[in-house]
Parts: sequence; structure tokens; C-alpha cells
Amino acid sequence: MRERVKAVQPSATFAISELAKKLRAEGKPVIDMGVGEPDFVTPKHIIDAAIKALHEGKTFYTPARGIPELLQAIVEKLKVENDLEYGVENVIVTPGAKHAVYEAMMATVDSGDEVILLDPSWVTYEACILMAGGKPVWVPHNEDFSDAAVEEYVSDRTRMIVINSPSNPLGVVYGKEFLKKIRDIAVDNDILVMSDEIYEKIIFEGEHLSIASLDGMKERTIIINGFSKTYAMTGWRLGYAVAPKEIVSTMAKIQSHSVSCATSFVQYGGIAALKGDQSFVEQMREEFRQRRNLLMKGLDELGIRYAPPRGAFYMFMDVEMDAQVFCQEFLRKEYVATTPGSAFGQSFDTWVRLSYATSKENISEMLERLKRFRGVMQ
Ligand SMILES: Cc1ncc(COP(=O)(O)O)c(C=O)c1O
Repeated sequence: MRERVKAVQPSATFAISELAKKLRAEGKPVIDMGVGEPDFVTPKHIIDAAIKALHEGKTFYTPARGIPELLQAIVEKLKVENDLEYGVENVIVTPGAKHAVYEAMMATVDSGDEVILLDPSWVTYEACILMAGGKPVWVPHNEDFSDAAVEEYVSDRTRMIVINSPSNPLGVVYGKEFLKKIRDIAVDNDILVMSDEIYEKIIFEGEHLSIASLDGMKERTIIINGFSKTYAMTGWRLGYAVAPKEIVSTMAKIQSHSVSCATSFVQYGGIAALKGDQSFVEQMREEFRQRRNLLMKGLDELGIRYAPPRGAFYMFMDVEMDAQVFCQEFLRKEYVATTPGSAFGQSFDTWVRLSYATSKENISEMLERLKRFRGVMQ
């Protein structure tokens, strides 16, 4: 195995989810709070659009960067929703946002380049940096996870800073002040910023602001986004990146020699998602808000510390014991799947991520099991 791949750990969330599925197949009453995907089926008009495309014979390779209509729909979305002026040449459609992260790292990070990650962060960034030969540099958050002393970690090898708002696993929505600080660091030191905005529509408090819209940032930002979370389309594998033309062209080169393009008829579903009725998104957000409130109330009653989430659908909590052991035993004894904090960075060995992309009944039942489990473990 190549050295740079050796350093990468397999996806912990996928491993836990597979074990949870196995236990469920054995008839165990599993509650899966490990997996990061909405528990809703994709809205019908999106499914219909993909089926229609299939029936119309849209079964061929598409251009590597995606079909022109979808690129155009993304450009329009950026203008209307994010107040960002881009051309279709700035957009690449990928099989999932995850692959956009991979291609963007491969396109921009050279051997030995440093990439700044906020601790904790979605671990795929670290994996992609390592696969590109780069060096992840973890920067701790402050106490309430609203800020981080990024400036102290910048060196002459820093190539990129990665931000993710709302964030996985914290649910933090970064404010304008923090984004401006990152902008100043990036501009002063000629650094790229990867801004993963995949949870932009799942915000309960605060507002989404793309760092690309701040002065001087469009030319140094790679926006990552996709359809998985907003439109409950995880299995479709459809995402996109928006970036300066040269970066997009390099990503397209990688895409054309690896996966060729995103699946043809799936891209038609993407157009329907962006241009069609958005009421599903509103309903899903409201449901997530209620679940989050239920979960926060339950954790408060149990006296468990957590990072209060303002967006996404994750709750990051401190279980005050080895999180690996907690996750294994909670699954083994109470059949609840969760993800240990060590899967999200360097300093969260006693923290666990709960994904509340599951029903309120399941959340209430999980809280009962958690109460019982803590009684046993104490
Ligand atoms: C922060 C973040 N970005 C991107 C993704 C990947 O989304 P996709 O399904 O489009 O690959 C995830 C999925 O968990 C995520 O949490």
C-alpha cells in the first residue's frame, strides 16, 4: 500500500453503520444515530425527473463537468440565494460532494503542503489531504466553538484553510466576524479556502453566509456543496464544487480520468431539485429543529455536556469516558449506534457524535437507553 494511503483510516461512520445494519438483520432493536443522512425519501418530483430522463434515453456519458442545464441551474442558485456571480466555467458537478473534496485536494495540494482543519471536523478532509500528499494541521476551537486561533498555525507551507458551516460534527454556524478573520488571513498570506456549505439549508439559528461573498474571496475559495442533505439524496451521489476556472479545469481533468462524470439521469434529478418546489426543505428543517430540541432537553436532564447545534443534524456530546469504549458498549448493550469523537479530529477522545436524522420516537427511546446505560457504566 502506498505510504500516503496507509495513513488514512477507513470511514468510521460507514463501519459503525454496517455493524448496526448487521445487528438489525439479526433482529436486534437497533437505533442508528451513527449515520449522517436524512431519514427521508427524496421528494417525488426529483425522482420523477430522473425517471423521465431515463425514459428519454439520457443514458449516455455527459460532459465531465456535468450537463450544461445543471451547471446553469447551479449558477442561478448561487446568484439568487448566495448573491454570488459565477459563470458555468466555475462549476463542476461531481458524484457526491465527497468526491468534490477529493478532487479539489488533488487539484490544489502538493506534497508537503499544509492544510488547516478546525478540530473537530469531518474526517474526510483529513483523508483527502493525506491522499494528496499534504499535511493536515489541526487547530483547536475556543470553548464555545465559535472561534479558533487559526492565525497562529499559518506557516509558509500553508496552502489551504478548510471551513464547514454549518459544521459536521458540531452543528456550529460561523458568524460573519469569524469568516472575516479567515478572509483576512487567507488574503494576507495568499491561502485558498475550502468552504463546505452542504448543510447551508439546515440552519435553526443564524444565517448562512458563504465566505466566497466576502471581498477578495471569490478568487481563492472552493465552495463544496451537494444534494445529499438538502434534498435527501445521499444514495444518488450528486454534488458540486464552485471555484476559480483553473481549479475547476484541473478537477475536471481528474474527474475525466477517474469517474468520467456524475451519472447522467441523476443530473436531471439535480435540476428538478434546484428549480422545483422547495417546501420539502422547509418541512425537513422544521422536523430537524424539533428533534434537536427534544435531544437537547433530554441531554440537559441527564446532565450531559454538548455543543449546542445551530444547524446540520448532529449533536456532539462529552460522555466523560473513552468514547471508543462508549460507542462499542452502547451498541453492544443497548443497540444504539453512535460515532466516537476520535473520528473527527485530535482532541475529542471522550466525545461522541449523535446524528438525529432519526424519528422523535427513536430519539426518546435512545434517551431512555442512554439513561440506563449510564447507570450501568458508572
Ligand atoms: C461536511 C460534509 N460534507 C460533505 C459530505 C458528503 O456529502 P455527499 O453525500 O454529497 O458526498 C458530508 C457527508 O456526511 C458532510 O458531512
